[in-house]
Amino acid sequence: MNVISFVNQKGGTGKSMLAINLAVAAQESGENVCLIDLDPQGTIVNWYDTRTAETPNVVNHEQMPNLTEALERLGQGGFTLVIIDTKGEDSHATRGAMLAADLCLIPIRPAGPDLHASRPTMEALRSMKRDFALIINQATPNKAAKITAAIMASLAHDGPVVPQAVAARMDHQYAYALGQGASEYEPGGKAAEEIKELWAWCRKRLGKQQGDATSEQAKRRA
Ligand SMILES: Nc1ncnc2c1ncn2[C@@H]1O[C@H](COP(=O)(O)OP(=O)(O)OP(=O)(O)O)[C@@H](O)[C@H]1O
Ligand SMILES: [Mg+2]
Repeated sequence: MNVISFVNQKGGTGKSMLAINLAVAAQESGENVCLIDLDPQGTIVNWYDTRTAETPNVVNHEQMPNLTEALERLGQGGFTLVIIDTKGEDSHATRGAMLAADLCLIPIRPAGPDLHASRPTMEALRSMKRDFALIINQATPNKAAKITAAIMASLAHDGPVVPQAVAARMDHQYAYALGQGASEYEPGGKAAEEIKELWAWCRKRLGKQQGDATSEQAKRRA
């Protein structure tokens, strides 16, 4: 079982939105996914309340008194991927999510204040020796815009950057309102395509092959 945590002290950068969408895309590729909402704000829990499908599994922060034990239980329960959404602050819970993760994703909007705000998060992750990457979110949807590529290149001096930026798109807003991921709301849409690329990148970074999750589950059943 792998763990991905979304972290950034800066609020509103897209931690919850990306956590939800990545979970749905990973599930579509065969992973058995559990989303952990460590933020009392409950963005993921609220999304799940609207959702008609039962999966991915969603656990709220009150059900998580001990993250390490909970992750052990989830692994034994057959989950192949856990995605943790954290509150936008440096807290004991967020540090726990960082320590537990195989990969931490730091969403940032393509703007100076977001980059400054993400530096303490990167420093914390470096001191914990955790693998991480910055992911540009709410980029301009215009493919021809050179600004996203320029920002990506400049961010690369600060830390690893996911090569796929996620643009600001209404599909994400509509999908959230319906309790869906963008890949369910508009499977052939650009928002869905970007999220699938993000998942493909994460899977590679985690050293997972397509079909790994299914064979893990088959082994468990044997
Ligand atoms: N790519 C996107 N396209 C359109 N809307 C987006 C996108 N990313 C995020 N949003 C919207 O921006 C707002 C903030 O996103 P989100 O709640 O995911 O941020 P967050 O980092 O989890 O914030 P917080 O720190 O408050 O938990 C939400 O209304 C969300 O729907
Ligand atoms: Mg959030």
